[in-house]
Amino acid sequence: MKTWKTDGITNILPEEFYALVARNREHIAKTFPVTLAGCTDFESTVAFLLQGAENVENGTYYYFYPRDISSGKLIGYLVVKNIDRHVSKCELGYFIDKDFQGLGITSKLVANALIFCFETLLMNKVYICTSTTNTASQKVALKNGFVQEGILKEEFKNGDGLLEDIVYFGLLKSDYII
Ligand SMILES: CC(C)(COP(=O)(O)OP(=O)(O)OC[C@H]1O[C@@H](n2cnc3c(N)ncnc32)[C@H](O)[C@@H]1OP(=O)(O)O)[C@@H](O)C(=O)NCCC(=O)NCCS
Repeated sequence: MKTWKTDGITNILPEEFYALVARNREHIAKTFPVTLAGCTDFESTVAFLLQGAENVENGTYYYFYPRDISSGKLIGYLVVKNIDRHVSKCELGYFIDKDFQGLGITSKLVANALIFCFETLLMNKVYICTSTTNTASQKVALKNGFVQEGILKEEFKNGDGLLEDIVYFGLLKSDYII
């Protein structure tokens, strides 16, 4: 039985997104510096979500939020970003609440996002960038059929302000099997 469902941005309250970010501050400090900086308190989170809703309207970003069904608690976030409609490619970023890791939720969330990217956005390629040490995120990519294309040197500034190498995983529509 499915224990979680996915909500869109219009069903997300600022207080619950702020609570999600606040209780996962350490967990996502290195990987989600922009989200952390955008959600330092309730007021900034209201603005962050309003901007997000505008992004969806403009077709520049899309967001998927897993919610635990029994508690109603918001438990994660997946963003479709860096949408390049000329080359038909986009990137996925995601995190899951620290208490809900290892349950396969992010892998399934990515699988659902791939259907959206290939069938609704008509992308030709979806990619994921992970830290070289982020085994869990690399597994999420590999389990969904992504292929490691290479390592990009000092490509990402992490939450500590350090430039990190990233592992670039790509999935082409022609290699995508539902
Ligand atoms: C990376 C992350 C999103 C994985 O989410 P998840 O919901 O736990 O992923 P899944 O349950 O789908 O598991 C994927 C695989 O990673 C493994 N895994 C989960 N947490 C792990 C951890 N802390 N260390 C090592 N492996 C882990 C799972 O066992 C599973 O492997 P398996 O299929 O061989 O059993 C989550 O750990 C997270 O939010 N991390 C912080 C933010 C982040 O790094 N985001 C990614 C940026 S690229």
